Amino acid sequence: VSDLFADIRNGVVLAELGGYGDGPYCAQYGAGAALALLGTYLVDAGDQVPYPRTFVFKPGRAQYRDYLREHVEKAHRGAQRAGVSVICVDPADDIDFLLAAQEAGADYLSLCLHSVMAMFVSRGLSSAMLRREHWPHLREHLTAILHAVDRPLIVKISASDAPDSLGAVEQMVGVGVKIVHANVGHAVDQYGVTLIRRLHEHCPFLIIGGGIRTSEHAHAVIEAGADAVAVATAAMTDPTLCGRLQAALRE
Ligand SMILES: Cc1cc2nc3c(=O)[nH]c(=O)nc-3n(C[C@H](O)[C@H](O)[C@H](O)COP(=O)(O)O)c2cc1C
Repeated sequence: VSDLFADIRNGVVLAELGGYGDGPYCAQYGAGAALALLGTYLVDAGDQVPYPRTFVFKPGRAQYRDYLREHVEKAHRGAQRAGVSVICVDPADDIDFLLAAQEAGADYLSLCLHSVMAMFVSRGLSSAMLRREHWPHLREHLTAILHAVDRPLIVKISASDAPDSLGAVEQMVGVGVKIVHANVGHAVDQYGVTLIRRLHEHCPFLIIGGGIRTSEHAHAVIEAGADAVAVATAAMTDPTLCGRLQAALRE
């Protein structure tokens, strides 16, 4: 297990930012990171999503194939690896989008189970999939994705406020998910250490984010059991942050 995803181990991940995190953004603000995540992109047939238009696609590969090629290529100019994050109003669209991302050159694929938007949660989707009553659907959906794609799949969750999130992580890992990206917020204690330790026990490769802006904090999160750290907000105003944190972690 120790050389699993060696390219991003002890790495800095530029976290996905819906509405911001396109290729040029990832190249600039993810400079020096082990992995920059593009997106989260939305696939929405019905114009339901109140999101910047450039991050919303209609279903069907012709809608996003060329875009993904261009933006994955740009992200690779700054970060060593590029990944693409998606959330679909109809989960049946997830596989097609992730396959297009893979064909566009994405090294990692990410599924957003982090959203608390009512349009997803009210239908048992995204973060609602972590709730116990939706675990059968969670397992079925992840199993189908894992069979279809051949790039590593990251499942992005918020672990700070979902009581069932540890159990949901066990469910995911049980069907073959290897990488969980958890936004732990500032829960539990200063570094969320208790929660990170518990997630680490369940998960082969753990990416942890939430409030990280210093190398001390990044080191503490790795010490607690994370395999990589994710940065979103602090990097938005500092294009040197990912590179500096990455240098500190790999010293
Ligand atoms: C402006 C903004 C947009 C975000 N959009 C997304 C998103 O589309 N998908 C997602 O999974 N997380 C999204 N996040 C969450 C971040 O990826 C990250 O997990 C979270 O902000 C915690 O990291 P931080 O404390 O370093 O900001 C967003 C965060 C911000 C600040």
